Amino acid sequence: MAALTQKKTCSQMMEEWKEYMWNPRTREFMGRTGSSWALILLFYMVFYAFLTAIFSLSLWVMLQTIDEYTPKYADRLVNPGLMIRPKLGTTEVVYSVNGSWQDYVDGLNSLLEEYNKTVQMERGVNCTPGVYNIQEDTGDVRNYPKKACWFLRDVLGDCSGDSDPTYGYSSGMPCVLIKMNRVVHFLPGPIKELSNTSITINCSGQVSVQRSQVGGHKNDNLLGSMQYFPTVGNRNLGGIDLMYFPYYGNRAQQNYTQPFVAVKFLNATRGVDHMVECRVNAANINNQDSRDLFQGRVIFKLRID
Ligand SMILES: *[C@@H]1O[C@H](CO)[C@@H](O)[C@H](O)[C@H]1NC(C)=O
Ligand SMILES: *[C@@H]1O[C@H](CO)[C@@H](O)[C@H](O)[C@H]1NC(C)=O
Ligand SMILES: *[C@@H]1O[C@H](CO)[C@@H](O)[C@H](O)[C@H]1NC(C)=O
Ligand SMILES: *[C@@H]1O[C@H](CO)[C@@H](O)[C@H](O)[C@H]1NC(C)=O
Ligand SMILES: *[C@@H]1O[C@H](CO)[C@@H](O)[C@H](O)[C@H]1NC(C)=O
Ligand SMILES: *[C@@H]1O[C@H](CO)[C@@H](O)[C@H](O)[C@H]1NC(C)=O
Repeated sequence: MAALTQKKTCSQMMEEWKEYMWNPRTREFMGRTGSSWALILLFYMVFYAFLTAIFSLSLWVMLQTIDEYTPKYADRLVNPGLMIRPKLGTTEVVYSVNGSWQDYVDGLNSLLEEYNKTVQMERGVNCTPGVYNIQEDTGDVRNYPKKACWFLRDVLGDCSGDSDPTYGYSSGMPCVLIKMNRVVHFLPGPIKELSNTSITINCSGQVSVQRSQVGGHKNDNLLGSMQYFPTVGNRNLGGIDLMYFPYYGNRAQQNYTQPFVAVKFLNATRGVDHMVECRVNAANINNQDSRDLFQGRVIFKLRID
């Protein structure tokens, strides 16, 4: 009996469902007439077209506010750090005079190829030393692409690879290049007592590891004397000329050439770990922040065996 009722209900349901899907009497499909369906379809089409229009409009408005040449949400990094080159994985220069320095020399060779005179002359212009290379736009007229100033490897003197193809590595007097990280539109101010035309870089060192043969403790003298290229004035300081600033960003100033200061370690004591600290001296760069050892300076290990 129960099975019979169920069967009846089942076929009834089947019928009802069929009628719901297509009712030939009222010509309704799923409970709606054709015109009703057409209206619904029309409503959704208009609705989605409207949504698409709103979305496109807001996207367009947002794109209007973006200047393709200046990063809109660039890091507000106003205190640049320093980096050393060549950099083989870690921030250190550790090698043995008898052998393992070829990687450093190769690194410098490939880095400095772009600084050959012919390459630089093609990419940039000979700027006036000592003044910022300001190339602002005039009103709405864009001054793009902006010109880049030459940096010829010759100014690196004994570290240019010209007179000494091993950059001093084979003789235990290695050269290390120091660069300042680029900050778009940043104008570093020179320190008047040191130079009016350049910001300056100089280094000092300590032996951090106690060693019996050198009497232990921190010792500044073991790093020996250093020579900087290019040199500023008659002091022993490296200089980055103001003409390399400001940097206008990769898009506006594609050919920008990264300037370097080369440091040559003339008499570094062999066989000890020197912790070399190089700082940039500029009026508006903090190189003293004890919480951030990467602001305005770089610290790296130097060891010559
Ligand atoms: C380097 O080679 C010289 C001889 O060519 C040798 O006297 C010296 O001990 C070697 N130095 C090292 C660190 O192997
Ligand atoms: C750069 O100059 C050096 C010699 O001064 C040369 O060996 C090298 O091939 C040059 N590189 C380019 C890219 O011109
Ligand atoms: C950038 O360098 C290329 C050659 O590498 C040169 O043809 C082009 O004119 C330079 N652009 C500017 C703005 O100086
Ligand atoms: C920078 O210029 C000022 C005067 O404008 C001068 O007194 C000072 O000696 C100059 N500094 C250097 C390093 O030449
Ligand atoms: C760099 O030179 C300046 C001025 O001679 C000096 O005050 C400073 O201590 C030096 N910095 C380093 C890291 O040696
Ligand atoms: C090199 O340093 C040593 C001490 O480490 C010193 O005795 C020597 O005079 C220095 N040589 C030069 C040329 O400065």
